[in-house]
Amino acid sequence: MLNHDIDDILVSETEIAGIVKTLASEITQDYKHKKPLVVGLLKGCIPFISDLLKELDFFLEVDFMDVSSYHGGVESTGDVKINKDLGTAVKGRHVILAEDIVDSGQTIQAIRSMLLYRGAQTVKVVTLLDKPKGRVVQLQPDYIGTTIPDAFVVGYGLDYKELYRNLPYVGTLKPAIYETESEE
Ligand code: PRP
Repeated sequence: MLNHDIDDILVSETEIAGIVKTLASEITQDYKHKKPLVVGLLKGCIPFISDLLKELDFFLEVDFMDVSSYHGGVESTGDVKINKDLGTAVKGRHVILAEDIVDSGQTIQAIRSMLLYRGAQTVKVVTLLDKPKGRVVQLQPDYIGTTIPDAFVVGYGLDYKELYRNLPYVGTLKPAIYETESEE
């Protein structure tokens, strides 16, 4: 059903599985003795963080923040809103921020600065998708799954008007979906 709305599959299920394993092995090398706090930024991070955590074989803690910047549309507003904050103190901790996508970079920049201000020892960013063409701030994620072109993508956590997050792959929507929506 959901598949009918998809134009192109940009990152397949099999590709995602390979990417997650590669990222996990890099992160394991860097963090296996650091007991980091892995922070997922809801809601987009859910499939990615859940797959990634299962591949990380060392001591770590997990927490979540609910942050949003798109507010339902297809472009980032730059206005980063914290809907739910962390329940864990970050002072002195090594923090890994887990994202589904870094686009304009504003979400990660805002959260990263906030956690450093709260006293985190280090804050690094792992993202499944990097869209450097969307960047409006200077920010390079520390661990990048794959780089994608400047297209609006959905699936594997990413939504359009809160839908499509449950697709097992990342793809582009058929333009007709936006056109129908804008006529409503
Ligand atoms: C998306 C995505 C990232 C952010 C990236 O979240 O999950 O958190 O936007 O965009 P940026 O680099 O331009 O800041 P969104 O705000 O749509 O919330 P969601 O995770 O609940 O979908």
